[in-house]
Amino acid sequence: MTKAVISSTGLWTPKDSISNDELVESYNTWAERWNAENEARITAGQATAKPLSSSSFIEKASGIKSRFVISKDAVLDPDIMAPRIKERPDEEISILAEIAVAAAKDALNNANRAAKDVDAVLVACSNLQRPYPAISVEVQDALGMEGFGFDMNVACSSATFGIASARAMIESGQARSVLVCNPEICSGHLNFRDRDSHFIFGDVATAVLVEAEDMAPDGAFAIVNTVLKTKFSNNIRNNFGFLNRAAPESANLPDKLFIQEGRKVFKEVVPLVADIIKEQLASQEIDPKQIKRFWLHQANLSMNSLIAKKVVGHSVPEEIAPVILDTYANTSSAGSIIAFHKTKHDFKTADIGLICSFGAGYSAGSIIVEKR
Ligand code: COA
Repeated sequence: MTKAVISSTGLWTPKDSISNDELVESYNTWAERWNAENEARITAGQATAKPLSSSSFIEKASGIKSRFVISKDAVLDPDIMAPRIKERPDEEISILAEIAVAAAKDALNNANRAAKDVDAVLVACSNLQRPYPAISVEVQDALGMEGFGFDMNVACSSATFGIASARAMIESGQARSVLVCNPEICSGHLNFRDRDSHFIFGDVATAVLVEAEDMAPDGAFAIVNTVLKTKFSNNIRNNFGFLNRAAPESANLPDKLFIQEGRKVFKEVVPLVADIIKEQLASQEIDPKQIKRFWLHQANLSMNSLIAKKVVGHSVPEEIAPVILDTYANTSSAGSIIAFHKTKHDFKTADIGLICSFGAGYSAGSIIVEKR
C-alpha cells in the first residue's frame, strides 16, 4: 500500500487586522447608542441594556489580541458591524475560491509542485459560500487541474477530516496528490453585536498538500495515524441559510448567526479531546512526551493549555503547544494548520508531532505525523 504524507502547507492572510481595542470601541459605541435609544423601555423593564465589552476581558478569557479580516471598515462601522463583500458576477471567481487558490498556490510552491500534478482538491471548511457548484470545482478550474474536487464541512475539524479523507484516497489508490484547502471567512457568520462572542473569529485560508510517499519532496511529514470522532451537540451552532429562513423578516435574527454556550463547550470538549489524543497515542505506543509539538485547534488559550496538560501530565510551554490565537483569533478549521505551517521548520527526521482540531458537531480530528 502506498503511504500518504503531507508534502507542504500554504497560508493566505488578509492584509487588514482589527485589534481588540478597535473592535471593543466599535461594539461599545453601538451598545451605548442602543441603550440611549431604548432608555425608556430599559427603565420600564421591557428591554435589557446591552452590556459593554472590554479588551482586557477578551485577552484574559481567550488569549486573542487581534484578528485578520477581509472587510475591516464595515465590521468596525457601528452602523454595519458585518463584512461588506462586493457581490461578484458569476463569471468572476468567488471570494472563497479566490482565497483558497491563494493558499493552494503557496502550498504548491512550497512543494515545488505544479497544479497539473494534483489529482483532487477538497475544500474543507466551516463557512461555505454557496451549495453548488462546489467551491472546490471552481478552485480546480482556477488552478487548471484535471481530476476532481468536492466540498466538505465538519466545522472547526474540517481540515483534519479533509487530511484524513485525502490520506484514504491516496492509500486506496484513487489519487496520488490531493490539495486540502481551508478558506475561512468566519466574519461572515459572526454576530458582531453579541458582546459574549463578537471577538472570537478571524478570516484566513490554509492549504495542505497530501501526497503518495513515493512522489513527495524531501522533508515531508508521514501521516502515521488519524482518528476522527463526532458527537452531536447544539452548543455551537450556525443556522444561517436559505432552508432555515421561515420568513424574510427572520433572516437577520441573531440565531441565524454563530451562537455558542462557551462555558459548556469548554467543559465538554476539553476532556473529549484529551481522551481522544491519549487513546490515539496509546494505540500507537507513543508516549505523549515523545510528541515534539501539539498543533492544536486555536479557539481558546486556556482550552489548549488544559488539553496539552491533560495529555502530557503537566503544563507545557508554547514551544510544545504553539499559539497563533493572539494574532489570528479563532479561524475555525484553519487554526491548527496555521500553527503547523508556522512552527514545523525545526523538525528533524523521525520527530513526531500531532495536529488536532475540534469544534462544532461536536467533532474532533487528530493526526500523528512524523518527519521523514
Ligand atoms: N467583555 C466583558 N465581559 C464579558 C465579555 C466581554 N466581551 N463577554 C462575557 N463577559 C462577562 C460575562 O458576562 C460574565 O460575567 P458574569 O461573571 O458577571 O456573569 C463573565 O464575563 C464571564 O463570561 P463567560 O462567558 O463565562 O466567560 P468565559 O471565561 O467562559 O470565556 C469564552 C468565554 C467564549 C472565551 C470561553 O468560554 C471559550 O472560549 N469557550 C470555548 C469556546 C469554543 O471553543 N468555541 C468553539 C467555537 S468554534
